[in-house]
Amino acid sequence: MIAKVRKAVFPAAGLGTRFLPATKAQPKEMLPLVDKPLIQYGVEEAMQSGVRNIIIVTGRGKSAIEDHFDVSFELEHLLETRHKKELLATVRAVSDMIDISYVRQKEALGLGHAVLRARELVGDEPFSVILSDDVIDAEVPCLRQLLDVYEFYGAAVVALMEVPKEFISAYGVVDAEPVAHNGGKDRLYRIRNMVEKPKAEDAPSNLAIIGRYVLTPEIFTSLEAIEPGSGGEIQLTDGLKHVLRSRPIYGYRFEGKRYDAGDKLGFLKATVEFALKREDLGEEFRAYLKGLSF
Ligand code: G1P
Repeated sequence: MIAKVRKAVFPAAGLGTRFLPATKAQPKEMLPLVDKPLIQYGVEEAMQSGVRNIIIVTGRGKSAIEDHFDVSFELEHLLETRHKKELLATVRAVSDMIDISYVRQKEALGLGHAVLRARELVGDEPFSVILSDDVIDAEVPCLRQLLDVYEFYGAAVVALMEVPKEFISAYGVVDAEPVAHNGGKDRLYRIRNMVEKPKAEDAPSNLAIIGRYVLTPEIFTSLEAIEPGSGGEIQLTDGLKHVLRSRPIYGYRFEGKRYDAGDKLGFLKATVEFALKREDLGEEFRAYLKGLSF
């Protein structure tokens, strides 16, 4: 029997330097796309994928994340007395949403280090990791797509996306061979090797790892065994490469559109496209954009 994935780990202890000064006193995970913080998109994706147990790895200055998912008595009381039913429902939906635990990453020593901090809360079971910078708009939630592969093969799976050569060095990159799956041959790969942030000329392919992972608990031993890598940090990619020595890992080129919301331009694109899709805003916003003269 393949064990069920019940938990999702959200590394959220990064310093958010790409978004300074907005992130000086506010976690980047709380930056809103239209009116919802980045991390909530990820948490909703986990829930829609059937993963209800959320573990957030936080750091200094991240208490806004905890407050966001907590009950706000004052706010609820105010909305109640003012008969703002819809807003009250929206606010309650956030705090009712999930079972969340928090663990601290005292120093920002890398993504692999952040995942390792969740070890005790995860225990000896498979789990998922969601990077809330990567916002993915998809018909079937991206994590669900990976879980379908995991449930078939019982092995770790990472999300993959083709990235143009000039941008590839910002990612973990895989060397992988296509595997026939579900009658098709173009989305699933078996990974042979992977490298974190290679130079464009050294990249083994144009397939980049995107921030969705289904991992098996062996990753923790590997993360403990490896040395700091790219940027002097403990990298999750290096941990996975270590796991590869003894276990297969798959990559899945997911269906859907990914926005790099940790980058200013990516964030703006996501904001515009998400606003255009909104029932309450889309029409007016579209008319506004069309009326702009450039
Ligand atoms: C992290 C991972 C990298 C992955 C990327 C996806 O990098 O280390 O392997 O390709 O997320 O967004 P970061 O963007 O945190 O530098």
